[in-house]
Amino acid sequence: MIFSLQLLLTTALAASSPDWYPTPEIGSITSDWADALGESMDILAQLTLPEKVNITTGTGWRGGQCVGNTGAVPRLGIKGLCLQDGPLGVRFADFVNVFPCQNAMAATFDRILVHQRGTAIGRQSRLKGVDVHLGPVVGPLGRHATGGRNWEGFSPDPYLSGKLAFEAILGVQEEGVLATIKHFIGNEQEHYRRAEEWRDGFGFKDLKDAVSSNIEDRALHELYMWPFADAVRANVGSVMCSYNYVNGTQACQNSDLLNGKLKSELGFQGFVMSDWFAQGSGVSNALAGMDMSMPGNDVDELETVFWGEQLTRMVANGTLPEARLDDMVLRILTPLIYFGIDDRTPNFSSFVDTTVGSPHPAAKHSKKVKDVITNYHLDVRDQFAANVALDSARGAVVLLFNDGILPLKNISAIGVFGVGSRLGPNGAVCGENMQCSDGALIEGWGSGTAYPTEYESPYEALHKKASLLEVSVTGTTESWDMRLPLELAGDTDVNIVYVLANSGESTANVDKNLGDRRNVSLWHNGDELINTVASQGQTVVVVTTVGQVDMTAWLNHPNISAVLLTAPAGDYGGKAIADVLFGEVNPSGKLPYTIAANTSDYIPIVTKIPRDGAPQSDFVEGIYLDYKWYDKFERTPLYEFGYGLSYTTYSFSNLHLDVKEISEFLPPRPVPVQVTKPKMTNIDIEDLYVPNDFKMIDGLVYPWILNASAPLADSQTQFPFANGAGHVSDASGGVGGHPWLWSNAVTVTHNTTNCGDVAGRVVSQLYVAFPETLIDSPPVQLRGFDKSKLLNPGESQMTEYNLNWRDLAIWDVELQSWRVQRGEYSVYIGHSSREFELCETFTL
Ligand SMILES: *[C@@H]1O[C@H](CO)[C@@H](O)[C@H](O)[C@H]1NC(C)=O
Ligand SMILES: *[C@@H]1O[C@H](CO)[C@@H](O)[C@H](O)[C@H]1NC(C)=O
Ligand SMILES: *[C@@H]1O[C@H](CO)[C@@H](O)[C@H](O)[C@H]1NC(C)=O
Ligand SMILES: *[C@@H]1O[C@H](CO)[C@@H](O)[C@H](O)[C@H]1NC(C)=O
Ligand SMILES: *[C@@H]1O[C@H](CO)[C@@H](O)[C@H](O)[C@H]1NC(C)=O
Ligand SMILES: *[C@@H]1O[C@H](CO)[C@@H](O)[C@H](O)[C@H]1NC(C)=O
Ligand SMILES: *[C@@H]1O[C@H](CO)[C@@H](O)[C@H](O)[C@H]1NC(C)=O
Ligand SMILES: *[C@@H]1O[C@H](CO)[C@@H](O)[C@H](O)[C@H]1NC(C)=O
Ligand SMILES: *[C@@H]1O[C@H](CO)[C@@H](O)[C@H](O)[C@H]1NC(C)=O
Ligand SMILES: *[C@@H]1O[C@H](CO)[C@@H](O)[C@H](O)[C@H]1NC(C)=O
Repeated sequence: MIFSLQLLLTTALAASSPDWYPTPEIGSITSDWADALGESMDILAQLTLPEKVNITTGTGWRGGQCVGNTGAVPRLGIKGLCLQDGPLGVRFADFVNVFPCQNAMAATFDRILVHQRGTAIGRQSRLKGVDVHLGPVVGPLGRHATGGRNWEGFSPDPYLSGKLAFEAILGVQEEGVLATIKHFIGNEQEHYRRAEEWRDGFGFKDLKDAVSSNIEDRALHELYMWPFADAVRANVGSVMCSYNYVNGTQACQNSDLLNGKLKSELGFQGFVMSDWFAQGSGVSNALAGMDMSMPGNDVDELETVFWGEQLTRMVANGTLPEARLDDMVLRILTPLIYFGIDDRTPNFSSFVDTTVGSPHPAAKHSKKVKDVITNYHLDVRDQFAANVALDSARGAVVLLFNDGILPLKNISAIGVFGVGSRLGPNGAVCGENMQCSDGALIEGWGSGTAYPTEYESPYEALHKKASLLEVSVTGTTESWDMRLPLELAGDTDVNIVYVLANSGESTANVDKNLGDRRNVSLWHNGDELINTVASQGQTVVVVTTVGQVDMTAWLNHPNISAVLLTAPAGDYGGKAIADVLFGEVNPSGKLPYTIAANTSDYIPIVTKIPRDGAPQSDFVEGIYLDYKWYDKFERTPLYEFGYGLSYTTYSFSNLHLDVKEISEFLPPRPVPVQVTKPKMTNIDIEDLYVPNDFKMIDGLVYPWILNASAPLADSQTQFPFANGAGHVSDASGGVGGHPWLWSNAVTVTHNTTNCGDVAGRVVSQLYVAFPETLIDSPPVQLRGFDKSKLLNPGESQMTEYNLNWRDLAIWDVELQSWRVQRGEYSVYIGHSSREFELCETFTL
């Protein structure tokens, strides 16, 4: 960043987030879940204290077959839950699909595909016995080009992320599997996300605390919380709180964020689970609004259990109000009932590869645990999922440049180069976390991965097509010794170079990248390879990347004839590229982020550890992220957000606006709903201890008090602040926020025509410029997008967008609410965030 945007912050960043207590209870706003809540209250009334606790606490890391497993209530036939990664497919399972990552899905700008992908993932999850799917991701949003998990999320544009998250959630939950929106919030870099991991695992000895994301109020609302609001609006079952601190307070015990923002302002009715080992204490998390401890114990000290027995104790001794525990239970049971989570059991194991094995890999005396069939090897793939995965991979391909060479025609010999063209030496499944990068990039690494069952490499896919056309294919993956590429590249009509850049979660170090990328360059000597191949003739570059890459080393080479870019696109990524190269598919992908002309325009991740050992990441750019920053400061990017070419041309016409009555302020929020909750349990001391006939498995987490001789203090001293400190926002009152936010404000229509001679699909993009007032806003912001049907040459279609009141609003920090300013608004319809074809204005 070259501009010091510090000035934009009116207040200094706080050293800790303010208090917001107590946790708003489920049911206090109108929601679709009222009947299900009634049923869960009936169940709650029958539960003993340890039974309630069991529902909120995981059985410990590797305690069951899934990455997360909660306790059961056998007495009432309530099963423990199976929670499973990850956002692009069922992790650790065989015979599932690896779908394009979310960043690839964002490039499709296709709501329907994102919904269908959700359906397919939901269905495969259910068939494998998963109850709670750990996706989708809208944090990271993608603040840093080098952020390790950007590929897992959609886009740094919150509007795009929000709309797509909404569809993804509907898709998954319609299949009877709960979705989880994550990671709440400000989880933008891997560096120092969890102090123990980086201190003890990577040797950063001076690190004391996790990185704190210091986000000012307006950016929090208009960027980082925005897609979470869409997710809540979609009735998402759960939210995962993140590892990082926000404003100096750990996200999973940040009462202002969980109680104040998520549960009060956004009206979230489901449960907040911790990210794995993101819990830092017991009482504080509970009071701050966390509802489920995952995986139930602490990774560094598996003996450390913050809830389980301790939660039972803290309720029994009066430290934590029982109402808070009851609310946790209701928040977990209600969506399960509403979405019909049935009595399925997992038929795969995350930890045991063999068919038969232990259902509790964490068990210390494993001989005591009887083996079961851990893996039924059920093939859950079907034609629907294959179609969705392929269509998505095709739709995700962005054509950045084409001098006319594509689609390939009149060609008799092709050279194929680059590590990205073929499978690496270990095959498609190259480690538990897919922590490799020596072959075609199917996905990044970390928990957001799934195992490919069948994968066709870009080389194989291209070769298959070329053979049918009697085109010969040669090439090599050698990328360091230039002799062979040089020799082969000269004997062809065109060369295709498959290059890549990879990243992942900070659970692994891949080529010195600790999750986050250490640079924005291509891997495997990609720049030199491209220039070498190009020196021999026409060259097409295919970039598969987890985020922005620097292309300046070769983009202007006269022999570079075309450039395609895609995020890792799963099972069919290789095939999709071949389809686009040969023109079977007309590319329609659009960049979900801006690629800089100068890499110093990217916001670097924080790597400095200050003397106090607590790294601070100040989000000084505020609301000016990605294209909004380039526009605001008149920086010319290489390729802007929304950019992407086609084999045909499109034109937009007949823009029409229908502007409704749009108020400046929100009306008073709806009156809270009164719900009568079941009476508190009469705590029976007998219940608190392990029943005599119960055989505990050593190494698992249970809700009972184990040490009967440790006194159970009968103090009634509750945490003083649990009695109320939160200001209820005027922007609250409904699921997703004040219902008025979602009211229709402007309907926009226009026509789209395919003016070229090739059929294709086009993304039309609607941007809004807010009035120029004392409150400064980005020059334009995406507020609508639509992917057309397949338009034949000359064919037209009409497109309609519905802008909500929220889409025209700013978060007014003074007012502490949303506000639609008075003045002139401009609506642009265009092909990217910088190329507009139509414009209309209206005045409020
Ligand atoms: C973080 O601090 C900034 C600056 O003081 C403030 O605007 C914002 O509301 C705070 N957010 C939270 C969640 O504490
Ligand atoms: C808690 O869950 C465990 C694991 O499912 C189960 O064995 C135990 O009986 C449960 N405890 C109670 C009190 O229901
Ligand atoms: C998983 O597969 C096994 C074996 O076919 C079956 O018994 C079980 O019901 C399946 N689970 C689900 C959730 O379908
Ligand atoms: C109550 O139990 C909790 C959890 O074990 C403990 O942290 C707290 O100190 C106890 N309070 C009293 C007053 O005994
Ligand atoms: C393909 O090659 C043939 C013969 O060289 C030529 O007549 C034709 O114009 C070429 N077509 C294209 C699209 O370049
Ligand atoms: C950038 O990182 C990649 C991947 O680790 C590495 O191959 C490359 O050499 C690095 N480039 C520079 C200039 O350090
Ligand atoms: C481009 O390719 C041609 C061969 O087709 C070669 O003669 C020429 O030197 C190349 N140009 C550059 C700048 O390398
Ligand atoms: C990139 O921007 C930096 C900071 O403005 C400047 O110093 C540098 O010269 C620029 N590099 C190029 C290649 O333009
Ligand atoms: C159980 O509690 C008693 C009394 O506080 C204590 O002396 C003892 O060390 C505890 N035992 C274990 C195994 O923690
Ligand atoms: C184009 O727009 C006009 C006016 O908005 C509409 O009446 C017409 O049906 C549209 N044509 C197509 C092909 O969508």
